[in-house]
Parts: sequence; structure tokens; C-alpha cells
Amino acid sequence: LDHYLVVGNPIAHSKSPLIHTEFAKQTQQAIHYEALLIDTSSGAFATAVNAFRANGGKGLNVTVPFKQAAWEFVQHRSERAKRAGAVNTIGFNQQGESWGDNTDGVGLVRDLTQNQGKSLTGQRILLLGAGGAVRGVLEPILAEKPASCVIANRTLEKAQVLVSLFAEIEPLSACTYDALAGQQFDIIINGTSASLQGELPPLPDNIIPAKRGWCYDMMYAATRTPFVQWALEHGAICARDGLGMLVEQAAESFYLWRGVRPKTEPVIEHLRYLLQ
Ligand code: ATR
Repeated sequence: LDHYLVVGNPIAHSKSPLIHTEFAKQTQQAIHYEALLIDTSSGAFATAVNAFRANGGKGLNVTVPFKQAAWEFVQHRSERAKRAGAVNTIGFNQQGESWGDNTDGVGLVRDLTQNQGKSLTGQRILLLGAGGAVRGVLEPILAEKPASCVIANRTLEKAQVLVSLFAEIEPLSACTYDALAGQQFDIIINGTSASLQGELPPLPDNIIPAKRGWCYDMMYAATRTPFVQWALEHGAICARDGLGMLVEQAAESFYLWRGVRPKTEPVIEHLRYLLQ
């Protein structure tokens, strides 16, 4: 039985053990996957991962607040992890060296394009927020070749820094919420943590084009998130939360470790049912 972990703080409510256990059953992979709380004192992350590796552990998922620590910890980083500045998936190669990847962005893109049938190519995309969540998904979104991608944030400088990290990619720009007045976007993706406080980024009322605007919240909840609710009230033809992204990023991690792609749809449906 190969052992895997998801580590974070807090971690008790993580859905990853359930998701990976379902993937393993479905694909008949002999794995054991559990959650581990790591304390936030300096060095605790590296100590815990080293101990897990020494005991024969095969891989880890990493969640808040350790994704940057994981990025620093790993000996090898994928291109997308380098760009994301964060690692959510760790594995070990045959020499026992650690590698890190970031599957969040591909998870978001697959949920939109494959599960929901919404292509990003040629679309005008608005990203809300400029923290780690948005940085983590930027490159996979840009790789879909949208017509343009605007990052709006309360603190303009943080959005500008993200733009500068992807400077060679043309259609990317930064702005404040005020500067959105009078504009419309085909797809609006909420990557702020505003929902955690039950809040909304301050968006103008007519920013969603009638009968064709899509909205996506990277957060998910048992009931509609404030952003999904707002989107449906402001004319979005489709507004989804990030449950599919959660399962898709897990599927990509599972694939990196096991070389097998699990079916995600039944797992998304099961989780949605359990959330209710
Ligand atoms: P994460 O790693 O989850 O992205 P973060 O780095 O703390 O978390 O970033 C949170 C993001 O949500 C930021 O873009 C933040 O805006 P600021 O950079 O201006 O602080 C945004 N955010 C949080 N609460 C918000 C609110 N009530 N309205 C608008 N944006 C909000």
C-alpha cells in the first residue's frame, strides 16, 4: 500500500482524502491517503515532509498556508509550479529527490473547458484578486489563449506584480475595481478571499454581458457562494463554484503520482451530494 498525505493548517475539513480514496477505488490503485495537520512554526513543514519520506511516503498534497513553503522545499519544480510560485503536489523520484508541481490552474481550466464546455480561447477574461489563488492559475488560463485577461484588485500594485511576472504574454493587464466601470467581460473568475467573510469584490452592475456572460468562483460552498449569487442576479447565463476545480486539481495530482487518470464526474457529483 503506497502512502499519500494532504497537509495544511487547518486540515480537518479537507475533502482530499475522500476524493483520492474514491479515485483509488475507481482505478484499482492500492493507496492509502490521509490528512495531516502541520503546525505553522518555522521548519515544521520541512520536518514533517522529511519524516514522511523517510517512512516510505510516496507523495503529498499541500494546502493553505504551506504552498509557498512547499515551493521552497522541493528540489525540482515543474514550469507551471515555477510560475505559480506555489506547489500543491509533491512526489519523490527514484533517487529520493523531491519534485513539486502545481495542479490548481489546470484544475480550473479543465473544470471550465471539459466539465462545463466553456472554452477560454478568444474570450475576454476578468480575474478578481491578486493573491496566491490567482497567481496559481494564471499561466494555465493564459495558455488557453484568451483575447485578453484583466486582473482587478483592491491593491493595484499586487495585480501589477502578477502582470510583470508574465510580462511576455501580451493580453494581460492590471486595474482597480473602479476602472472596470463601463466594461464587460465574457468570463469573470473570482479568486479573491472575499467570500470567506461573506463579502463581494465591488463590481459595477452591468459588467456581465446579457445572455452570454459566464462566472466562476474558485471557492465552493454547500449553498451558492456570494459571488455565484451575485452573478446569477446580474445576468450570468452560467455561474459555478469551485468544487469541480477541487476535484480536477486532485485528479491531476493523482495522475502525476500514479500515471492513471481517474474519472472526475462521479466524484464531483458525490461531493456535491455530501455537501448538501
Ligand atoms: P489567496 O492566497 O487565497 O489568494 P491572499 O494572498 O490573502 O489569499 O489574497 C486574497 C485576495 O483577495 C487579494 O487579492 C485581496 O485583495 P487585496 O490584495 O487588495 O488585499 C482579495 N480580497 C480579500 N478580501 C476582499 C474583499 N472584501 N473585497 C475585494 N477583494 C478582497
